[in-house]
Amino acid sequence: MSDLSITEALTSDDIVIEGTVGTTTAEDAKMSMRNVNVFYGDKQAIKNVSLDLARNQVTALIGPSGCGKSTFLRCLNRMNDTIPICRVEGELKLEEQDIYAKKLDPVLLRARVGMVFQKPNPFPKSIYDNVAYGPRIHGLAANRAELDEIVVSSLQKAGLFGEVKDRLDAPGTGLSGGQQQRLCIARTIAVSPEVILMDEPASALDPIATAVIEELIDELKEKYTIAIVTHSMQQAARVSQATAYFHMGHLVEMGKTEQIFTNPTHELTENYITGRFG
Ligand SMILES: Nc1ncnc2c1ncn2[C@@H]1O[C@H](COP(=O)(O)OP(=O)(O)O)[C@@H](O)[C@H]1O
Ligand SMILES: [Mg+2]
Repeated sequence: MSDLSITEALTSDDIVIEGTVGTTTAEDAKMSMRNVNVFYGDKQAIKNVSLDLARNQVTALIGPSGCGKSTFLRCLNRMNDTIPICRVEGELKLEEQDIYAKKLDPVLLRARVGMVFQKPNPFPKSIYDNVAYGPRIHGLAANRAELDEIVVSSLQKAGLFGEVKDRLDAPGTGLSGGQQQRLCIARTIAVSPEVILMDEPASALDPIATAVIEELIDELKEKYTIAIVTHSMQQAARVSQATAYFHMGHLVEMGKTEQIFTNPTHELTENYITGRFG
């Protein structure tokens, strides 16, 4: 699906990026992006990127700092709409829905395509109210009993319920970093999303909390389609089934995670995974 007319010699290392190598499409795609270009003012941050997110899989987005991973991820639930100088071009679909259609409400889109950020950002509210926030806004519960049920099951799915069940009225900000991140995941899950986007969700956490989050991501893929940005190649290898390697705004290579990490095709991918830059 890549556009071979786009050939660009890189000034830094003279390695040519000609479209994307590998497999960018999925038989059972939950989201499909084609020929995506993203600009901040007149600076182009994403260059003709096409890829699918396969349903009930974890897709890892990797690459050196500044290559456009977060920018691309934010396109998938229109978080870039909040940056006035940012312009997104191309075709981006959630199943058959054009997610940039004028009539589509981005708030409703973000309930279907949720996002978890690098730094845990619970609201200054109780644990209960953090999780209940989305269901309340979207009117998902008819009464208090139904809301309780959503809060409890979301905390359970996020692997946090056992640790907080006796203090649901305590402030979310009083939890440990790893617990706060699982609270943010519970808050995302509470509105029944179909896709969860995660931008370096464990990079502010200690190794034990990171391992808990990684295990959780593996469980979550049974119900959700997940895209995760990570600067840790070990993490990408542990949690994902597909990996997309970005370099200076280009999608250089994409394929099964095992192949990308053991037998990459492109020289730039190989340089990155062997630690020559990054
Ligand atoms: N809000 C913004 N305004 C202007 N430029 C931005 C903004 N966010 C990112 N960029 C630029 O876009 C490029 C890609 O950044 P980013 O998507 O954050 O990369 P990554 O997540 O891979 O580190 C960088 O050159 C960065 O400086
Ligand atoms: Mg980033």
